[in-house]
Amino acid sequence: MQNSIEGRIVLITGCSSGFGLQTAAHLASRGCKVIATMRNLEKQNALLSEVQRRGGEVEVCRLDVTDKNSIKETITEIAAKYGYVDALVNNAGIGSLGFFEDLADEEIRQMMDINFFGVQNVTRQVIPMMRHRKQGKIINISSVSGFSASPAFGSYNASKWALEAFSESLRYELRMFGIDVLLIEPGVYRTNLFYENSHFARHYDNPESPYYPLSQYIKKRIMEYVEDCHKDIEEVPVLIEKLIRAKNPSFRNIPDIEGKTLYVLRKILPFSVYSWVVRTAVFRGYKFEK
Ligand SMILES: NC(=O)c1ccc[n+]([C@@H]2O[C@H](COP(=O)([O-])OP(=O)(O)OC[C@H]3O[C@@H](n4cnc5c(N)ncnc54)[C@H](OP(=O)(O)O)[C@@H]3O)[C@@H](O)[C@H]2O)c1
Repeated sequence: MQNSIEGRIVLITGCSSGFGLQTAAHLASRGCKVIATMRNLEKQNALLSEVQRRGGEVEVCRLDVTDKNSIKETITEIAAKYGYVDALVNNAGIGSLGFFEDLADEEIRQMMDINFFGVQNVTRQVIPMMRHRKQGKIINISSVSGFSASPAFGSYNASKWALEAFSESLRYELRMFGIDVLLIEPGVYRTNLFYENSHFARHYDNPESPYYPLSQYIKKRIMEYVEDCHKDIEEVPVLIEKLIRAKNPSFRNIPDIEGKTLYVLRKILPFSVYSWVVRTAVFRGYKFEK
């Protein structure tokens, strides 16, 4: 059962590129009142051009998900102007590639600060507006990495895994207030996450690292995979629109066929078999020293 979406007020984090930018432009073209936030307003032109191309309007606001003051300021302004938001899309996030021993503690903390605590910071400020109206949807952009771990992705896996547990728990807590908490778990899409916004562990490219030959191999494999990935990024905004419209959406939502396949395999295979599949996929062709 689908509802009308025109006029809905949607707040999105991380709209300077990727899913956030496309979702803001997509929903604006559908007649939503989109509050598109980003931590660096100097990057807003890409979004504004996309909105101009598709039609509609967005209001761009500064919001760094790790900066509680900026969040409070922005949400207070939104509350004063609109009184409420219909949906919050917690999209802002970073990726990072690195074996645990190549990563510094601060790098892992930064990942958690953005991908996990960042979601909590924004959600905490938005819930009261939704609670008073007894309605609202909180859509958290997780990843297949939120249910399936792989080598060199440990800190990202941990951040999204934590996000999934938090979302599941919050869903129970907010149901009595008419607020729905939902997850989107995309597989790989070619976005800035793998280019301008890519992060590598401090010792990723250090030839002294015991992981060096393998990390170089994995980096090359991943980039080949991403370059070869022609999935339409628009699948994510379309799914978000569907979830905002839906009366009773599912908790977990996977936009792409690879993600769906991985989810089913994870569910049905014994872990020994599943982990063999992951190991084979990641290390295929790599010659381990005997
Ligand atoms: N692409 C994929 O394959 C994939 C798959 C599954 C899940 N995801 C998830 O999708 C979400 C969006 O990623 P994307 O692929 O669209 O990558 P992206 O193009 O790199 O976009 C990430 C966005 O998050 C913003 N951001 C980072 N740190 C922030 C902070 N502290 N405060 C506010 N905004 C911040 C970035 O802003 P700046 O431009 O200022 O850095 C950027 O706007 C992330 O949560 C990611 O984990 C991506």
